[in-house]
Amino acid sequence: MFSVTCVAPVNIALIKYWGKRHEELILPVNDSISMTLSTDELCAKTTVTASESFETNRMWLNGEEVPFEESSRLQRCLNEVHRLAVASGSQKVPPTWKLHIASVNNFPTAAGLASSAAGYACLVYSLSRLYDIPLNEELTTVARQGSGSACRSLYGGFVQWHRGALDDGSDSVARQIAPSDHWPNMHVLILVVNDARKKTASTRGMQQAVKTSQLIKHRVDQVVPDRIIRLREAIASHDFQAFAEITMKDSNQFHAIALDTYPPCVYMNDVSHSIVSFVHDYNERMGSYHAAYTFDAGPNACLYVLAEHVPHLLSAIQKVFPNDLADGGTYLRGLPIPKVQDAESSKLDSLDVHAKNAFRYIIHTKVGEGPKELSADNSLLINGLPLK
Ligand code: PMV
Repeated sequence: MFSVTCVAPVNIALIKYWGKRHEELILPVNDSISMTLSTDELCAKTTVTASESFETNRMWLNGEEVPFEESSRLQRCLNEVHRLAVASGSQKVPPTWKLHIASVNNFPTAAGLASSAAGYACLVYSLSRLYDIPLNEELTTVARQGSGSACRSLYGGFVQWHRGALDDGSDSVARQIAPSDHWPNMHVLILVVNDARKKTASTRGMQQAVKTSQLIKHRVDQVVPDRIIRLREAIASHDFQAFAEITMKDSNQFHAIALDTYPPCVYMNDVSHSIVSFVHDYNERMGSYHAAYTFDAGPNACLYVLAEHVPHLLSAIQKVFPNDLADGGTYLRGLPIPKVQDAESSKLDSLDVHAKNAFRYIIHTKVGEGPKELSADNSLLINGLPLK
């Protein structure tokens, strides 16, 4: 029996991937850039065990067994890893041995965060450790076929997913732009918003956008290429002002395309829009960009903010979005935030105050590293079966 356990991070796109040019291979219509978040606060954890005695492949997701279908993305990732293992001559584990896989997220799926990216990245990385395959560009093409954005979670720091031009997708790979210690004071506040609406799944939303939106063509041809160059420069030179503006504009354009899709896809809600207004008001009062929002296919906000500005930004958030839970232990999660000594609170005096309890909780985290193998005592499987 062979077993490995790994963790893999969540990544949040600064320039969004939205729209595929090939459904099955998951080839995007445009390049995207993301920042990887620290696994200390948010991660997927996966154990893969291979044994000669297992009769079938089995998988447990957050404790529940899920079907391992022949046609699934899961099976596709496994086939691809087997192909790479054979190609690299790795003989550690015979590819005929069946696998038992258990995977968990250390954050509630209800948080609506990119759990599939971390999940598929963790699966593919764990399989690569099991079969002794190196982490390289080709491995990112495997993660990409699980969930597009998963390819970016194979690296830490700042990562670009290149759309590629080839029909077989072999050049649609993720590459690291800068490691996590390049900009270590880049922090994130995730505002988890209360919302129960059913939203269009990203696969369907993208298909409809490519089919019906006219704006998406303009985005792909005229907007993204230049933004990619400028965001890479902003990251290289630690230019938070340029970083913030590109990030916010790109989030807004992604949601404009969702609305330009017919019938429209609505991912942000009223609270999301209030967060946008708040961030613009706040930045204006501070005299420069201190915070940058981005929203994925849901209402939660990710605010990028430099570490030194986190306490002040949080005190402004608490003022504008008051919460009955604010003093409780589970409202503020993640890295601790020192209280501000009210240095510039007069600047916040006339900010509009929103109705109470708009958020479920707030997570404070920062830029982080890529996937990692853990020691055997972290295993989620004992003799091939999940821990109870
Ligand atoms: O990889 P998917 O299918 O979960 O799509 C992710 C899409 C966005 O999160 C909205 C943007 C992105 O680039 O991550």
